[in-house]
Amino acid sequence: MSDDMRPSGPFRFGDRVQLTGPKARLHTITLRERGEMHTHHGVLRHEDLVGLPDGSIVTGSGGHEYLALRPLLRDFVMSMPRGAAIVYPKDAAQILAQADVFPGAVVVEAGVGSGALSLWLLRAIGAEGRLISFERREEFAEVAVANVETFLGAPPANWTVQVGDLVEELPGAVAAASVDRVVLDMLAPWECIDAVADALTPGGVVLCYVATATQLSRVAEYIRGTGLFTDPDASETMVRGWHVEGLAVRPDHRMVAHTGFLLTARRLAPGAVLPEQKRRASKSSYGDEDVELWTPGAVGDRDITDKNLRKRVREAQRAAQGARMASAFGASGDEDEPADLPEGDDAPRV
Ligand SMILES: C[S@@+](CC[C@H](N)C(=O)[O-])C[C@H]1O[C@@H](n2cnc3c(N)ncnc32)[C@H](O)[C@@H]1O
Repeated sequence: MSDDMRPSGPFRFGDRVQLTGPKARLHTITLRERGEMHTHHGVLRHEDLVGLPDGSIVTGSGGHEYLALRPLLRDFVMSMPRGAAIVYPKDAAQILAQADVFPGAVVVEAGVGSGALSLWLLRAIGAEGRLISFERREEFAEVAVANVETFLGAPPANWTVQVGDLVEELPGAVAAASVDRVVLDMLAPWECIDAVADALTPGGVVLCYVATATQLSRVAEYIRGTGLFTDPDASETMVRGWHVEGLAVRPDHRMVAHTGFLLTARRLAPGAVLPEQKRRASKSSYGDEDVELWTPGAVGDRDITDKNLRKRVREAQRAAQGARMASAFGASGDEDEPADLPEGDDAPRV
């Protein structure tokens, strides 16, 4: 990583900075030459931040103080524009661990949604790795590309976003048995398992992130039924914050109780048959009525309206354009800072 891209050191023009002001109100700005942040507490000039160490306190014209910090990736993904529901940081961390995403890995991801998981994957694979992301809705892909560009300054050269259905696009995009890891975050991952089995290298990992128990059981049984993978492992991740202040040390009153389940399995070598599969023919079989319960219609997808989605595309592209202009330095920065990025909505996926 070049020093220009490093998220540390004194603030520079082009950096994104998160300012915590009076009443803990958050503003996210991109530092621009002659840029100013206007609030009803007064004006803060961007150049007053340049050269200060990360974590400094700056004072606006009205005498109000702001804590200035570069947003962490977890802060950025929770506040960036969303087309589709994102993978939360707690799950992203577990996805990287359970799927064993390593520097230099060739990773396939579908769908790309708002690009939250793409950012974590890109960070984990590093410059030597390759991420190929598939998304069947063009507008979602646009939001994701703009979000990644906003955070990283430019879409990385080792990232490809392909618009289309994974099942149709994957065979033409990668050679058979060439992919190290596949992450599926979508309503019906079982539809993609055959294509994923062809793409994965022996020993490679497929990870499915699903919101409901019915999706979890359906994809687990589908994977088992192929005979091409190890027996799947399933888990969910609960993170409970704690309030720690003096003698008041207790769990937070609120938490994100449910987001999704993770399921992982590893691709067997060609021709390999698991010993227990030889013995346990169809122990976990299911009938047509069960399958009906598992259909996407029964699972229920919370969809965004076209109008809202177009709005999110515009928001994400405006933020990416701001980041581009700021890093080009030549851009005039004397207009008001665009409004804060919207706070992420905490609604669950279904
Ligand atoms: C929940 S979102 C993904 C969110 C993303 N992981 C993130 O963190 O921002 C699910 C996405 O999968 C896409 N999708 C569903 N089935 C797909 C398929 N078969 N091929 C490609 N994309 C698919 C949907 O259009 C949707 O955008």
